[in-house]
Amino acid sequence: MSSKHDSLPQGMQMETAIRVKAEETFQLADRVNRISPSPTMMVLQAAEQLKSKGVDVADFGAGEPDFPTPEHIKRAAIKALEENRTKYTPVPGIPALRQAICDWHKRELGSSYQLAECIVNVGGKHTIFNAVCSLINPGDEVVIPAPYWVSYPDIVKYAGGKPVFVATTAADNFILRAADLEKALTPRTRMVIVNSPSNPTGGVIPPDEFEKILAVCQSHGVWLLSDECYSHFTYGDAKPFAVASLPNAKARLITVGSLSKTFAMTGWRVGYALAPQPLIAAMTKLQSQSTSNPTSIAQYAALAAMTGPMDSVPVMLAEYARRRERIVAGLRAIPGVTCTAPQGAFYVFPNIAAHYNAQASNDTAVTKLLLEREHVAVVPGEAFGAPGFLRLSYATSMDRIDEGLRRMERFFGQSR
Ligand SMILES: Cc1ncc(COP(=O)(O)O)c(C=O)c1O
Repeated sequence: MSSKHDSLPQGMQMETAIRVKAEETFQLADRVNRISPSPTMMVLQAAEQLKSKGVDVADFGAGEPDFPTPEHIKRAAIKALEENRTKYTPVPGIPALRQAICDWHKRELGSSYQLAECIVNVGGKHTIFNAVCSLINPGDEVVIPAPYWVSYPDIVKYAGGKPVFVATTAADNFILRAADLEKALTPRTRMVIVNSPSNPTGGVIPPDEFEKILAVCQSHGVWLLSDECYSHFTYGDAKPFAVASLPNAKARLITVGSLSKTFAMTGWRVGYALAPQPLIAAMTKLQSQSTSNPTSIAQYAALAAMTGPMDSVPVMLAEYARRRERIVAGLRAIPGVTCTAPQGAFYVFPNIAAHYNAQASNDTAVTKLLLEREHVAVVPGEAFGAPGFLRLSYATSMDRIDEGLRRMERFFGQSR
């Protein structure tokens, strides 16, 4: 491999090598060449490689709950299997689940959707993919606040669209301001993607700012895609919120939800969209020619999640809240590291730019060195359009957080 890839973590080097090899031997479609492998998945892989060699990795890479899926949800899947619910289902999901999602969303977040305005997909990522591919034409602009979740720009590029980034700042808790959004809109803008609570920053857009963002989108006739996958993980004054609960919000709004985080169901792959019926129909058509229905037994598990007790959520939230306190305090105690307190999700996004040196002059290089020297896995801010930062997931035990903090303290202590 050429040296230009040497600054990437091991897993990333391997992925890049595979890609270059394919490009040398045969022609891949332009739409695939336009996108890159998910950097968070690659960090996960690099950490896994080390772990498989018996190395004790303090892993802050994974963006998934470290809690098991609640028992009643697992039971429902087992029951579905036993009852042979293992055949194709309707493409947009079983009606009972679509209705249960509408009811849950109304109960939990104050929206008012009907079954025909709901589609179930193979995870929230697939929901976003289907929505973007159903609406975006080549050359259309999609506004994305930065730092952003890694998949948004690549999904937009895959659809032939052009991501347009609007910067948010740590000083303003990474909140997208409607006034900044409006400046980024052009006659080519077709969609705005917002994510609150945010991966990677933990930023939460307050309801009154959301009202203004919605008004800007409506006055310019652009779609607002609101990714609310972390809706139930908020801290302090921030509360679970859905844009769809605002008056007259629904005409050009796509609400994206996922069971992955709220119910610790990442591997089950269930997400959903709530949106105007013609868009749901288009997404269903696309789904009918690609994945067909989400896995039948996962849908029955999801039905149990949407209709059953929610007691696992406050338990997880209380634990995340404790870890958040610890990790923010620990990072702030490292000289030269600054860290805003996340208001939601389970990530912290410290700035480590003061630690750049001759050996590691950007965050990808810092990530690589941190993994090599201290066996700490984090994701570089560059992956989220935010050089100078690192993303750490605190969906890991307090012990591992303490161990990781000790190692980072040592690492950054030596870099100055
Ligand atoms: C902001 C955000 N949106 C969507 C997703 C997709 O989650 P899933 O496809 O597991 O539902 C994730 C997963 O990490 C995420 O962080």
